[in-house]
Amino acid sequence: MIDNEVYDRDGAGWWDEDSSLNMLHGSMTPGRLRYFRGVLDRLRLDPGALRALDVGCGGGFLAEEFARLGAQVVGVDPSSVSIDTARRHAAEVGLEIDYRVGSGESLPVTDGEFDLVYCCDVLEHVSDLPRVLAEISRSLTPRGVFLFDTVNRTRASKMVAIKTMQEWRLTRIMDVPIHDWDMFITPDELETGLRDVGLQVREVVGLGPRANPLALVTNLRRAKAGKISYGELSRRLDFGQVRSTQVSYMGFAVKGA
Ligand SMILES: C[S@@+](CC[C@H](N)C(=O)[O-])C[C@H]1O[C@@H](n2cnc3c(N)ncnc32)[C@H](O)[C@@H]1O
Repeated sequence: MIDNEVYDRDGAGWWDEDSSLNMLHGSMTPGRLRYFRGVLDRLRLDPGALRALDVGCGGGFLAEEFARLGAQVVGVDPSSVSIDTARRHAAEVGLEIDYRVGSGESLPVTDGEFDLVYCCDVLEHVSDLPRVLAEISRSLTPRGVFLFDTVNRTRASKMVAIKTMQEWRLTRIMDVPIHDWDMFITPDELETGLRDVGLQVREVVGLGPRANPLALVTNLRRAKAGKISYGELSRRLDFGQVRSTQVSYMGFAVKGA
């Protein structure tokens, strides 16, 4: 059973390099952003002209990046502690982002309000995936773009995301189940779910650590032992676009195309 309460319990620490939540920052935020910016370039979309919705924004790592590129960003997350942290951090760094408490199943936004919606490391956490996808589609303009990343449901993801990161005492990064293998989504399932709500997947690529598997285990153990921070762990693992989609993948879809 997945424990989504962790984002309230630990949500004050998103920007703290020693918090395990910070692992999503170090190299993960820049790794995803590099790919997403490339997608927007290929679609000839200027991020500075976009109204963007971040579904499951957590502490605001990606919301801040898109705001820095000039987008008008709304960030939504059910964790009020995370939203408080995101609001506080945006104020500290002088960024204007509209953060709202709410869930992906019932987004607190009006129909067709956004040119861009993105949802990173969230779809595998939601209780009603078809409803979240329908909500994402509802919030997009007719030719709007959806950027995503999530975890695949394969033997490899069971080994990496469940056994290594969550179960094995020496390597797990949290003491609670942050993922449930049965909730992972294959690219085919996501493509079908998106097609059902009027979004056409245009591309799926692998997302993962570019460091070798030995470095993964060694650095996880160092972070667990407190020898390096989780921010440093993330940087050492060098997350970004990889060939294999077997563990995690990212991609984009276009509404009505
Ligand atoms: C692994 S974190 C990802 C945070 C952020 N997207 C990032 O990549 O930095 C998962 C986030 O999904 C949020 N979440 C959980 N259930 C959700 C739901 N039903 N709708 C929207 N967000 C949800 C959690 O509160 C948490 O902030």
